[in-house]
Amino acid sequence: MDVLLGLQWGDEGKGKIVDVLAPQYEVVARFQGGPNAGHTLEFDGIKHVLHQIPSGIFRSQILNIIGNGVVLDPIILKKEIDALGKFSIDFRKNLVISKKATIIIPTHKLLDAALEQAKGDKKIGSTLKGIGPTYQDKIGRAALRIGDILRSDFKEKYEALVEKHKSTLSFYGFPIDALAEMEKQFFEAVDFIKTLSLIDSEYTVNEALRSNKRILAEGAQGSLLDIDFGSYPYVTSSTTTTAGACTGLGVAPSKIGEVFGIFKAYCTRVGSGPFPTELLDATGDAMRKEGNEYGSTTGRPRRCGWLDLPALKYSIMINGVTKLFMMKADVLNIFDEILVCTDYQLPYGQKIDTLSFEITETQVKPVYKKMKGWHCALDQVRTYEEFPQALKDYVQYLEEALQVPIALVSVGPDRVQTIRR
Ligand code: GDP
Ligand code: IMO
Ligand code: MG
Repeated sequence: MDVLLGLQWGDEGKGKIVDVLAPQYEVVARFQGGPNAGHTLEFDGIKHVLHQIPSGIFRSQILNIIGNGVVLDPIILKKEIDALGKFSIDFRKNLVISKKATIIIPTHKLLDAALEQAKGDKKIGSTLKGIGPTYQDKIGRAALRIGDILRSDFKEKYEALVEKHKSTLSFYGFPIDALAEMEKQFFEAVDFIKTLSLIDSEYTVNEALRSNKRILAEGAQGSLLDIDFGSYPYVTSSTTTTAGACTGLGVAPSKIGEVFGIFKAYCTRVGSGPFPTELLDATGDAMRKEGNEYGSTTGRPRRCGWLDLPALKYSIMINGVTKLFMMKADVLNIFDEILVCTDYQLPYGQKIDTLSFEITETQVKPVYKKMKGWHCALDQVRTYEEFPQALKDYVQYLEEALQVPIALVSVGPDRVQTIRR
């Protein structure tokens, strides 16, 4: 099983690349996260954003698995499937859902909002999809799982959990007027999900491995949002790194093959938390405009900055990345000079290139290496040979600094704007 994951703060372009690589696989599986993800695919003039459905769904020969590590919102899943109506996808055949995946219920979303509101200026900048509260219930052994919807006592279990949530919401003084309508939609969606293939997907995955079928595990979010290794508490609530693919699908570590690490040629982040190379000036604004850096899930403007090598090296180490894919190289076309952060300078002068426990609290100053820009439109480029020399130099410099081959460079959102090396 190969794993593909984001090495930064999410939105690296995972959806696009899963869709591009999918023909080489028989199975594509999501292993963590939920509707906080927004994975964009573009082909044949169509742009589509997937939140919970794996990005192999447009290829009819592929089995798409929503694994046990995912937190699933039935309302959003139903909407996603409805929105795919025009593509004539056979969802009974091409999509399966783990019975052990955790359900996001309406009060999880209200709790997410209540907790964020209570944090004031310390808020995480959550997508408000209920991710944190749902994983909290999972770890607290109180959550409902997809398999539970098939049981006769589902409604009672649901009510019991909602009662607990209501007492917390009342503690925070958070209004629950919206709940009745949300519940109506929720139970309609649950009835719909009962008609899909709900399975013990760990058996499906391991049987596929035994019969030498190729599986691609599709990460959501990014390594710097990982619950353990991200800039805690400004993180998401799941294991976004390679290890999460093992627990989130039921695959042994020894079965992991390639680990594809995706990064943008610069950095973006949505939500709060440290971002050493963030550009709060006209350069950052130009990057946001050129890269169309607005959230695929929430529409929020993404914070933008130069590439951060200490952060990237950290993600490569934690994930055991075997191949790197560099995305959005075309966005840097507009700059005369391109900066790369090689080290962090601590407030008292010392230079480091590591992400320590203190990183969330410490104001580090990035130390930059300056590279020449290429000022060359790349959208029509289809081979590495056609790259301007300055871009080749950028790629080579990064490869040497990161000690992992850059196997693919993306020069636009479309499937065809993908250059393999
Ligand atoms: P994901 O969450 O990692 O799947 O990434 P998102 O879909 O949230 O954000 C990536 C955005 O960049 C999407 O709008 C993609 O269509 C777009 N994109 C992907 N690759 C490229 C690229 O190489 N160049 C440009 N300009 N856009 C890209
Ligand atoms: P994809 O898969 C970018 C961020 C949120 C917030 C933090 C916690 O599209 O790359 P959460 O709702 O998970 O509790 O929010 O994580 N975040 C993402 N940022 N891309 C994502 O997913 C994200 N999913 C969550 O903005 O800062
Ligand atoms: Mg995204």
